[in-house]
Amino acid sequence: MSSLMIQSFPVAALFFCLVIFSEFHFSASKPSGFSFNLIPRDSPGSPLYPGNLTRFERIQRFAKFSHARANYVTSVSTTTRNLTLNPDNIFLGIIPDHWYYIVAVEIGTPARQVYLMVDTGGDQIWTQCEPCKTCFRQLYPLYNSQASSSYRKLTCDHPFCSSLSPDMIYLCTNGECVYSREYFPGSVTRGVPSLESFKFHNFNGGPDFISPSLIFGCSNDNHNFKFSESGMISGIMGLNLSPDSLVSQLADHINRRYSYCMAPFSEGTAYPLTLRFGEDIPSHTGNVQTTHFFVVGDHYFFMLNLLDISVNSNRLNLPPGVFQRSNSTLGIFIDSGTPITLIDQRTNIVNAYELVILALQIHYDTLGLVRTAHSSGSEENYELCYNDKPDFQQHPTITYHFQGADYTVDSKFMTIRFGEQGYFCVSILPGNGSSVLGAYHQQNMRIIYDGNNNSIQFYPENCAGDHTIG
Ligand SMILES: *[C@@H]1O[C@H](CO)[C@@H](O)[C@H](O)[C@H]1NC(C)=O
Ligand SMILES: *[C@@H]1O[C@H](CO)[C@@H](O)[C@H](O)[C@H]1NC(C)=O
Ligand SMILES: *[C@@H]1O[C@H](CO)[C@@H](O)[C@H](O)[C@H]1NC(C)=O
Ligand SMILES: *[C@@H]1O[C@H](CO)[C@@H](O)[C@H](O)[C@H]1NC(C)=O
Ligand SMILES: *[C@@H]1O[C@H](CO)[C@@H](O)[C@H](O)[C@H]1NC(C)=O
Repeated sequence: MSSLMIQSFPVAALFFCLVIFSEFHFSASKPSGFSFNLIPRDSPGSPLYPGNLTRFERIQRFAKFSHARANYVTSVSTTTRNLTLNPDNIFLGIIPDHWYYIVAVEIGTPARQVYLMVDTGGDQIWTQCEPCKTCFRQLYPLYNSQASSSYRKLTCDHPFCSSLSPDMIYLCTNGECVYSREYFPGSVTRGVPSLESFKFHNFNGGPDFISPSLIFGCSNDNHNFKFSESGMISGIMGLNLSPDSLVSQLADHINRRYSYCMAPFSEGTAYPLTLRFGEDIPSHTGNVQTTHFFVVGDHYFFMLNLLDISVNSNRLNLPPGVFQRSNSTLGIFIDSGTPITLIDQRTNIVNAYELVILALQIHYDTLGLVRTAHSSGSEENYELCYNDKPDFQQHPTITYHFQGADYTVDSKFMTIRFGEQGYFCVSILPGNGSSVLGAYHQQNMRIIYDGNNNSIQFYPENCAGDHTIG
């Protein structure tokens, strides 16, 4: 694990230049919408951008992060929070070497800006909080609950704390509502569930969005968060559909819907991602595909029922149940926190990964391309690579046939070019017991998560217009 690549970071540069728009408060009854930007950790807009990496190194990191993230998603989705997870399998993006998103939010009155790591499969929102017992180093002042006039603790009679309530997710100890959240053994945050005013900057010209009383964790006892080495991140914001996530808390206002559209990656970096909620999601009159998602375990990663795969328009005719791992996992996770798609090589009956790779290999071999072995035995490498030919553009498409919906990855996103080395590789990695539809295959696709009927809707879109680089 390499150490973080930031030596001295001028404090002024901690804060993005923000144009402050008029502020927007929810009205209690009317559904509405808002948007804010997520900054990928490794993008030039990120305060953690590892500027000294070459494009080649950044792409290598994609593969590494993908394996680690897939292991994490799989582990937490097939266990419950109470079980001890295998530490060898657990790498949340809380390790500085990993790929994740960052969001800037203002908390409290007067407002304090903090940076939170966004965990698309995570639940709680928490930040380090004064008065603090054990806090990791932060390059900017800790949020101080005692200095904020809008701060309140959640009391034990709240449904999230009460043992009489089916919604209990926290504990009541000595009359105080508390939580203890372990991300992997030894990496734990403890604190007081609280209510506070949160302000999100709207990067799209709309008003800033203020939620006057969001439930969040005032974390005053934090251990072994590796991202602490940077001093930039003060906590985590979960975006899944657990009761205490942002999306669930705002559900009535945003009609349980959120969406993003990933602009094409370039030079091995991802662009900021605009997260749109409720009415801010564009409406589309064309062909919208929709399929149900399933939430497995209590970690709320989204799983889709994958039935078959096509390369170009040729179906592989995978046997029924090929992706079924157990009752709970029956397809492919969709996850923006995994850079590269993994197709499981341990599927039932046949090896789905090998069949996909074989079909792609036949496509390129038929067109006379020369295969090149860049794999060198490391599981982090891409298996199917070819020497580049000038002007070669006949890359195949791949279609994931979900229950009731076809998802076609544009041929532009089927390969990663290693320009300096003069070759390209197919952007698919072998899964180790699970499949994950990663960010690279989500480029130029509008993806909408709809918690009303647990469905995901998608259609191709030119996503470059959907973000402003912060
Ligand atoms: C980037 O810079 C850091 C700090 O100087 C160093 O530790 C790291 O090895 C460098 N990485 C590369 C790939 O050169
Ligand atoms: C975790 O364990 C405790 C005590 O063993 C139990 O009361 C609780 O229901 C468990 N939580 C989950 C999510 O399984
Ligand atoms: C879910 O609801 C949306 C809008 O309400 C609808 O467009 C979509 O078809 C539904 N999806 C499924 C899988 O039922
Ligand atoms: C799998 O599903 C069957 C039928 O729905 C059920 O009887 C069985 O207990 C389930 N097994 C597990 C491990 O959940
Ligand atoms: C795949 O899983 C096996 C055993 O479960 C493990 O030994 C191996 O390291 C894993 N490979 C990767 C790339 O995670």
